[in-house]
This record gives sequence, structure tokens and C-alpha cells, in this order.
Amino acid sequence: MQNKEIKTLGIIAAMQIEIDGIKERIENPETVTVSGVDFVCGTIGEKKIIAAKCGIGKVFAALCAQTMILRFAPDCIINTGVAGGLNDNLRILDVVVATDVVQHDMDTSHIGDPVGLISGINIINIPCDRFVAALLAESVSAVGIRCLRGTVATGDQFVCTEEKRQYIKNTFNASACEMEGGAIGQVCYVNEVPFGIIRAISDGGDDSASMDYPTFAAKAAENSVKAVLRFIESC
Ligand code: ADE
Repeated sequence: MQNKEIKTLGIIAAMQIEIDGIKERIENPETVTVSGVDFVCGTIGEKKIIAAKCGIGKVFAALCAQTMILRFAPDCIINTGVAGGLNDNLRILDVVVATDVVQHDMDTSHIGDPVGLISGINIINIPCDRFVAALLAESVSAVGIRCLRGTVATGDQFVCTEEKRQYIKNTFNASACEMEGGAIGQVCYVNEVPFGIIRAISDGGDDSASMDYPTFAAKAAENSVKAVLRFIESC
């Protein structure tokens, strides 16, 4: 993807607190409901925006991304929200911009595949669009938030033990864990739609995660939204 190619941008988040800040900024919003997902369509500045709350987990995320692509044909999809931090340099409220996504719960290793391999497309790491990722990272820094770029690991699991955290971090060299990005990435990959993942850290995915998450999720979600709004201004 090149500069100024994004005319229609799809934005997906799992939860209301992660997408409301975008929906509120959409001018002349119209809501189209398909397969139970409310797609809010309108403009922010010169860009056409479609914003949707997909719900939690890989199945809802995939359903939303595929429906968005078929119904609205976005030039690019961004997944915004919160995540558990796996890189020791990250602090709560910092932002991770994905270079690529993996699915940490994809495992056919007992029949000879490497852990994380997605059969059919036969890759483990799904690359994010380089232009989108670079501009997202620039946007994070431009709004004064600390940014790290790295692998985002997705699975249908809230990661909240040091053991699981270490497993995901070490197996996939992942910087953050969440529950939707890898599914959105896979759908975008097979449809050849450029995508980016931006996640602010709400917890460390460790033994304190269950306590930290409710305390910091809303503030973290706000940081990710702030950066996405800046991205929209500059793309
Ligand atoms: N989203 C935010 N924190 C998370 C965690 N620890 N595990 C999975 N998804 C998350």
C-alpha cells in the first residue's frame, strides 16, 4: 500500500470502549447491520470510515472482517484496542504496532507441523502492511505515546499467568497478546486487503493481569483510539 491510497478505511475493535472514540468522530453516520454486527459508516475529514465492534475472540473478529470486506470493500482495515504486554520494555498504556500477527493457539504440532502454522496458507506469521504499520507507529509517537513495534499474538484466551505469558513470548517472539488481531489478519491476508494492528497495553498478561485489566483497559483503549485518529488525519 502507498501513501494516499486509503479512501475507505475499515476500523474494527472487540469492545465498545475500544471503538466508541472513533464512532463519535464519524460525520453523517449511518448504521448498517449485517450478521448482527453494526457497521457505522460515514466520514472523518476526507476519509470514508466504516467502524465496527466485532465482539471478543477470533470467530467474531473473522466474521466481522469478512463481512466488512464483502459489504464495504475497504482499502485497508485497522484493528484497534488493548492487549497484554509481553515485551519487558513495555509499560501499561504504551502502544504496540504489529509488524505481523500469529495465532498462539493454532497447534497441529502433533501431526508434524510447527506450532502456530496456519494450514492452507502455510505460514505462522502473517505480515501487516508495511506502509500502514509505519504510519501507525508515526501516529502513536506524534500524539506523545510510547510505541514499540513487534509481533502480536492472538488466541481465544485471556492470558493471565506468568507461565502462559512466557510460553507465548518465547515461542513466537511476541510483544503483545490479544484475542482478535490474528483472525482479522488471516481474513485480510486471504482477501488481499492491507491491514494494521494497533494495541495499547492494559496489563502484562501475567499473574497480575486479571487485576490490572479492569483498572487500565479504558485508559489504554483511549490511547489506541487517539493514535488511530491521528493516523486518519495523515493517511
Ligand atoms: N487483552 C488485553 N489484555 C489481554 C490479555 N492479557 N490476554 C488476552 N487479551 C488481552
